[in-house]
Amino acid sequence: MEYTKAGQTTDIPVNTMKMVLVGGKEVLLANVDGAYYAIPNKCTHLGGPLAQGKLEGGIVTCPRHGARFDVRTGQAVGEAKLGFVKMKVKDEPSYSVKVEGTDILIGVG
Ligand code: FES
Repeated sequence: MEYTKAGQTTDIPVNTMKMVLVGGKEVLLANVDGAYYAIPNKCTHLGGPLAQGKLEGGIVTCPRHGARFDVRTGQAVGEAKLGFVKMKVKDEPSYSVKVEGTDILIGVG
């Protein structure tokens, strides 16, 4: 797998996240208790920008309709809600992340 530099550890304080571009793809990079995780920035429901949502305890909440994903695995852990209608959403893939010195590298291949 090919890894691409996505940022510096100093860019992402503990329990925060940001959107980074890796090979032209929007990726959500999160720091959960000092470990780094990456999933697509695009919500599997209707493409909401996950990095603009909330991150709590490793769970990101989509800013559009509230679907929730575990950033450590990509697993969908909460449904999207449109008015009174709740909809199941698909899991996100999870990208592999490694840290070399202060560089964060993501493998999206
Ligand atoms: S786009 Fe993310 S919950 Fe609808």
